[in-house]
Amino acid sequence: MPDILPVHLAIIMDGNGRWAKQRKMPRIMGHKKGVDVVNKVVRHASALGIRYLSLFAFSMENWKRPGDEVSFLMRLLDEYIEKELKTILRENIRFTVTGQTDLIPESTRKKLLDAVERSAGNTGMVLNLALSYGGRAEIVLAAKKIAELVASGSLKPEDVTEENFFSCMFHPEIPDVDLLIRTSGELRISNFMLWRIAYSELFFTGKLWPDITEQDIDEAISDFAGRNRRFGMTDEQVGDI
Ligand code: IPE
Ligand code: IPE
Ligand code: MG
Repeated sequence: MPDILPVHLAIIMDGNGRWAKQRKMPRIMGHKKGVDVVNKVVRHASALGIRYLSLFAFSMENWKRPGDEVSFLMRLLDEYIEKELKTILRENIRFTVTGQTDLIPESTRKKLLDAVERSAGNTGMVLNLALSYGGRAEIVLAAKKIAELVASGSLKPEDVTEENFFSCMFHPEIPDVDLLIRTSGELRISNFMLWRIAYSELFFTGKLWPDITEQDIDEAISDFAGRNRRFGMTDEQVGDI
């Protein structure tokens, strides 16, 4: 493995439905298989030494899917926590959730929050599950907090900065995304982590999420290691001539 690892790796796990359709199975079977891949990828990323792994598991827009698919996904989430919490704790992983969790059914939300609390002291990889998450919604919520600070007189409009704005977003301790992977061949962002991907390296693979292996993650990371990240500067300035 290259010694340049992304500090924050984020993945848009897409293609579960198509994976099932290819096999003439119901879409939910693709989601089920997708959870096995989540487990593999979490273990692999933690073993590699990734500091932050964000997984896009359910978007704000996904609430618009048929009710039975949404309920199945919520049940799957429930099962995931029940089965995987042991591993998360054993591997010293800190579990966090990013998104509008108030929309998640109460029993599932409780399990998620319990996992967050029980793993809060862990010092290994941060596993950040984006659930009921929308990038624009996150920015608007931060804007509301800033507006409240201004209205109450504790912040002047001219003192609003990228830094204090960012501190009002979900989990400001989680840094910008270094590498964003999207599976399934779709070349779009689908409202994911809009603020944090401003300077991310992007990696798209045509493989569907249930077919993803540890080698695919390694391939994306190797590709990332070979990129020249200039952040607007020149090659000379970033010392890579
Ligand atoms: C990604 O797979 C998982 C979720 C969005 C919950 P999809 O369910 O979007 O699968 P496709 O894109 O329809 O194949
Ligand atoms: C993005 O996938 C959301 C998740 C992976 C959870 P979608 O399948 O919902 O995205 P679109 O609709 O193809 O853009
Ligand atoms: Mg999809």
